[in-house]
Amino acid sequence: MPDPRSSLRTWIGEVEAISSWRSVPARARGYVLCAALGGAACVAPALRPDSRWTVLALLAALYAGGERAVRRDVAARTFFPVLLAGIFLLPPAAAALVAVPGALCAPVERQPRLLRRIWRAAQLALAAWASGHAYAAFGGPVAASAPDFPYVLLPAAAAVLAFAGALTVLDGGILVTAERVPARTAWRGLLLRSLAPVAVHGLAGLMMAVLWSSPYGPPAALLVLLPMGASCWVFAQYHRERSAHQATIRALVQAVDLKDRYTRGHSERVGRASVLIARELGMDDERVEVLRFAGILHDVGKLGVPTRLLRKDGPLTAQERRVIELHPEYGHEMVRGIGFLGEARAAILHHHERIDGSGYPYGLAGAQIPESARVVAVADAFDAMTSTRSYRRARPVPAAVAELERCAGVQFDAAMVGALVRALERHGWDSEVTAGGGTGADEALAAMPEQAPGAVADVPAAHRPARR
Ligand SMILES: [Fe+2]
Repeated sequence: MPDPRSSLRTWIGEVEAISSWRSVPARARGYVLCAALGGAACVAPALRPDSRWTVLALLAALYAGGERAVRRDVAARTFFPVLLAGIFLLPPAAAALVAVPGALCAPVERQPRLLRRIWRAAQLALAAWASGHAYAAFGGPVAASAPDFPYVLLPAAAAVLAFAGALTVLDGGILVTAERVPARTAWRGLLLRSLAPVAVHGLAGLMMAVLWSSPYGPPAALLVLLPMGASCWVFAQYHRERSAHQATIRALVQAVDLKDRYTRGHSERVGRASVLIARELGMDDERVEVLRFAGILHDVGKLGVPTRLLRKDGPLTAQERRVIELHPEYGHEMVRGIGFLGEARAAILHHHERIDGSGYPYGLAGAQIPESARVVAVADAFDAMTSTRSYRRARPVPAAVAELERCAGVQFDAAMVGALVRALERHGWDSEVTAGGGTGADEALAAMPEQAPGAVADVPAAHRPARR
């Protein structure tokens, strides 16, 4: 059975990047308002006395209960089988109404909670309404039952496709309006990643509907939810494991920040810049997340470098410099057992390679350098130039961009530099000041001869700050 965990987490979770009412762009609020009005128009026809209120109320209560149970363990996951059963049992407007109470009452972890709940209710109502109409258009019976097989499979497939398609369209819209994801990439891959898990839930919903209409009635339909509950439990275990890994990552980053003051706040910003580049390149969500980890952890190997070297005042000897330049390999050793980091591990190992082959640790050149490492190298250099240190002020973003462009094709991958430039034009950059205190080894490294011509002055060939 296809694993629904990642895509279902994504479906409703896409919108949860909204952090507060104030941070929500006006166009995103307008988009949610339009969706809410559309959802209200969809459910309005069901608000009349002759609707099948008993079935509707039972399904709505079941969905609300399931949603609360599922989201208590795993935020941003949702519970589609009951909604899809409603599509196979009720007219489109009533099926749309089934989703509304549960969506409005479901736990929401982050602010603005009201906006998120309205969005979720509107999105699911619209998707259920569209799915119900697709089901009816292909001749689906009003209440699917056993004698309708196998003919009901075609309208059921149409309903699933319409449900996933509507969610895709709406999710892409919220990515464009709320997260400013480029329109040409916002919808990329969304439908394919969601279709399989929605289809699985659709099959469960169809079974529920058939049993609901059978002589055994609604209690038998609940049996279908048992395997879905087991699936949710398994995903909850996965989620807890992932949370533990993330806590480990945070602990590692904090340890590095404490050890080397130069990197304080730097890791998080490199993670952010890596995400900007990855999104501009059109990478899917999972790769973007991996690139964020890569940026955050790129210097974790400094934990293996003696603190006296990282904080040393005065010039480093060649031997000491070689020790510091071991940090990518130390970092790779530290994280290579963390499976979900994927290609972030290669980025940690190779983030000091250069396109012209003069970097370290292996002197890889051009396309030999993993793509993730080329992303992190540019993000690392950009933040090194635009963040304030105790010994110098931050460079303005335009100056840093000019320096990156000057070194593109020699030190950095020109495609990554171009992606960062475009992302900065679109999103800007908030290089909040962090007390770097870049003394010791940073300044000592600055006193060393340049490793290669054309190097950015404070681009970290070995995290070298600007010369004073
Ligand atoms: Fe580094």
